Amino acid sequence: AKFEVGYVIGSLASQSINRRLALALVKLAPSNLRLREIPIRDLPLYSYDYDSNYPEVANRFKSAIADTDAVLFVTPEYNRSIPGALKNAIDWASRPYGQNAFTRKPSAVIGTSPGLIGTAVGQQHLRTVLGFCDSPQMNAPEAYIQFTPDLIGDDGEVSRESTAEFLKTFMVEFSGFIERARTVPVPA
Ligand code: FNR
Repeated sequence: AKFEVGYVIGSLASQSINRRLALALVKLAPSNLRLREIPIRDLPLYSYDYDSNYPEVANRFKSAIADTDAVLFVTPEYNRSIPGALKNAIDWASRPYGQNAFTRKPSAVIGTSPGLIGTAVGQQHLRTVLGFCDSPQMNAPEAYIQFTPDLIGDDGEVSRESTAEFLKTFMVEFSGFIERARTVPVPA
């Protein structure tokens, strides 16, 4: 089956290596997945004061999450956790109480960092947050991509064949995961 996948990049940096990784994943994904970025950059900082009147940018973000078949998180690790901008975006989509856009929304997590255990701890934090938000997550394969200077170009071209193969497998597995998650009947 064909699926719409929204991807969220956890970094706001103009030279983000996670943006490069996301572009690589778009290129390497199987053809039944249509990937589109769901941007988080323009979201203000969330508070529940907004619950009675979400700003347009937050409504757009939330609808984009709700309207997609699955969400792919491509994120750096900041201080062994997820970037504040990403947590803020997830908070927006999860509220007001009872209108959480992540409920039963399949997701997957991947990230890159120059560090040897790059993004592993941050990804665990993200998994805790997504678990609370009731998003079924792909458990395996895990993907901790150690970034080296020329690993992925600006255009998303991966220079190392073994990494390209691994990323391709990751997306094929994600497609299978979405298929299974979307075909299990939702209880009435
Ligand atoms: C980092 N970096 C980092 N790397 C890591 O592997 N573990 C970490 O905990 C942190 N912590 C951290 C905090 C902050 C505030 C910054 C700015 C950076 C380094 C980080 O991996 C590197 O800057 C990457 O380039 C971030 O990914 P993007 O933003 O380029 O996609």
